[in-house]
Amino acid sequence: MGIFSMNCRGPLLLYILLVSIVMSNTRALSPDGEVLISFRTTILSSDGVLLQWRPEDPDPCAWKGVKCDPKTKRVISLSLPYHKLIGPLSPDIGKLEHLQFLALHNNNFYGTIPPELGNCSELRALHLQANYFSGFIPSELGNLSVLETLDISGNTLSGSIPLSLGKLYKLSTLNVSTNFLHGPIPYDGVLVNFNETSFVGNSDLCGKQVNKRCNDGGGSASDSQGPISENQGGNKKNSGRLLISTSATVGALLLVALMCFWGCFLYKKLGKNDVKSLAMDVSGGASIVMFHGDLPYSSKDIIKKLEALNEEHIIGSGGFGTVYRLAMDDGCVFALKRILKMNDGFDRFFERELEILGSIKHRYLVNLRGYCNSSTSKLLIYDFLPGGSLDEALHERSEQLHWDKRLNIIMGAAKGLAYLHHDCSPRIVHRDIKSSNILLDGNLEARVSDFGLAKLLEDEKSHITTIVAGTFGYLAPEYMQSGRATEKTDVYSFGVLVLEILSGKRPTDASFIEKGFNIVGWLNYLVTENRQREIVDPHCEGVQPESLDALLSVAIQCVLSGPEDRPTMHRVVQILESVMTPCPSDFSYDSS
Ligand SMILES: Nc1ncnc2c1ncn2[C@@H]1O[C@H](COP(=O)(O)OP(=O)(O)O)[C@@H](O)[C@H]1O
Ligand SMILES: *[C@@H]1O[C@H](CO)[C@@H](O)[C@H](O)[C@H]1NC(C)=O
Ligand SMILES: *[C@@H]1O[C@H](CO)[C@@H](O)[C@H](O)[C@H]1NC(C)=O
Ligand SMILES: *[C@@H]1O[C@H](CO)[C@@H](O)[C@H](O)[C@H]1NC(C)=O
Ligand SMILES: *[C@@H]1O[C@H](CO)[C@@H](O)[C@H](O)[C@H]1NC(C)=O
Ligand SMILES: [Mg+2]
Repeated sequence: MGIFSMNCRGPLLLYILLVSIVMSNTRALSPDGEVLISFRTTILSSDGVLLQWRPEDPDPCAWKGVKCDPKTKRVISLSLPYHKLIGPLSPDIGKLEHLQFLALHNNNFYGTIPPELGNCSELRALHLQANYFSGFIPSELGNLSVLETLDISGNTLSGSIPLSLGKLYKLSTLNVSTNFLHGPIPYDGVLVNFNETSFVGNSDLCGKQVNKRCNDGGGSASDSQGPISENQGGNKKNSGRLLISTSATVGALLLVALMCFWGCFLYKKLGKNDVKSLAMDVSGGASIVMFHGDLPYSSKDIIKKLEALNEEHIIGSGGFGTVYRLAMDDGCVFALKRILKMNDGFDRFFERELEILGSIKHRYLVNLRGYCNSSTSKLLIYDFLPGGSLDEALHERSEQLHWDKRLNIIMGAAKGLAYLHHDCSPRIVHRDIKSSNILLDGNLEARVSDFGLAKLLEDEKSHITTIVAGTFGYLAPEYMQSGRATEKTDVYSFGVLVLEILSGKRPTDASFIEKGFNIVGWLNYLVTENRQREIVDPHCEGVQPESLDALLSVAIQCVLSGPEDRPTMHRVVQILESVMTPCPSDFSYDSS
């Protein structure tokens, strides 16, 4: 591996030569590649599949999920189903003029289906089912004259079915089931070929296809109007911002390319098809940094262990990367979070921030023990929490969490977060409070994890854009609009977390979506009917009405739409402490 550990101090000529290769590569990303980078910019979070898309490649043809025409190198297929993609679908997708196959089903896309899709005139299959698309079906889809498959089932689309879809003469599969569509199904063109299996589970569709007479007798549906224009306005604003961020990213990459030490450039070119191997990460000059003697091992020992890690040791993966179980010879176990780098080079900023995060110690926070800054990835070493995440405990395990445990977890999470907001200097906004970031120790005590990480990685991606990290469903309304995180946006997410713990349901559980709500909307609805206690998980044992009322009242305040109306985390902890009567066996809730 000696060749990979060369650095900038190599022969100057060779260095200049290589830099110019890097630069020509950067300039040469094909227009289709630029479109995909812009597509990625609106995605707030995923299972990490898009991390491997590298803007410095000449074309996107080797990127995950992408296929090109072998001759022209134009993108003909984009297939990213089941990757936990969260965010709106960029209207720039309409610029992929040779796209034939688009499969984004079973993700969490939201916002409208961009009418610009109607520009992909070679599209043969469009799979957008099982997302949260809302608004109307754009009539522009009727322009897709070679479309054979259209599946937009399982979204929250409303309005009626546009007449223009009748022009899709090649269409052999149509599914608009389980949406909120209503009105007459046009009995026109190709639409006469489909029967009720294509239309089941909508609010109120009528027509010959579903054997239901329409009252007004009209066979044609009026094309979409109204709310869609509002939505499109939002999209346009968004794409403006995206444009700025894309050019900023490209600019930043150019700079980075200049500074890049070419050893790692070579290494990356060769290692491109094997992003899985951790051994390659740490070969060639990786160094381990430990915080105040937290890791009583030599760098060599740790690197040896890192090299031995492989897929078998993966315990989870999230928006920012993959987590491995790292067991040392003395029996101590750690969690290693591996984040692929978007750019190369030393990152002083990153190291400084990590020093700060590593210095934060608290009973209800996950301890960051050290890190390894290699040329291809960032490896963070945390305490391993044997209880896994609260997300798993609530939604994936068969045994239910007892009421007392749930209270205790809420209390711990509140204290951890209050510590970040009020006792740290500088104060730390978490930005990504959600149940998978609340980890549990052996006694099911809560530990808040990943604090500060969202900010850290946003700054790595680009110093200009504010990318909304965190997960749809936990995000405060003002955060969704401005992308600006504050302590109060954390308080909102904490309120959602409390509701999730009380109800045992994820914030965007299908049962809420069916009713046209998310968890907060459902709570607010129940409150107007004075039935808020009904939100509680019926499987939960030991529910105490007094503490339930207090918790509901805290949650209601935390998810108020005005940030200034929400309590501080300090206040939340005070309220919680005043209502909880600790059992004799309990720990005393000490906040330091
Ligand atoms: N320190 C840790 N100890 C035990 N399990 C962990 C730890 N950190 C993360 N995990 C597991 O790995 C999963 C992925 O973590 P992460 O990459 O932070 O993504 P996310 O928080 O979005 O789920 C978590 O959901 C959790 O189950
Ligand atoms: C779609 O095509 C129309 C006309 O061909 C053009 O005006 C518009 O800019 C295109 N939109 C996109 C997103 O490519
Ligand atoms: C696409 O469809 C819209 C509405 O259905 C129509 O106004 C427009 O002219 C069409 N564009 C093209 C390029 O065919
Ligand atoms: C509906 O059409 C499909 C083919 O598109 C066919 O397989 C199915 O049997 C039809 N169902 C009914 C109830 O007619
Ligand atoms: C459409 O999707 C629904 C729900 O996923 C399914 O039940 C139905 O069979 C599908 N219809 C067709 C024609 O594929
Ligand atoms: Mg996490």
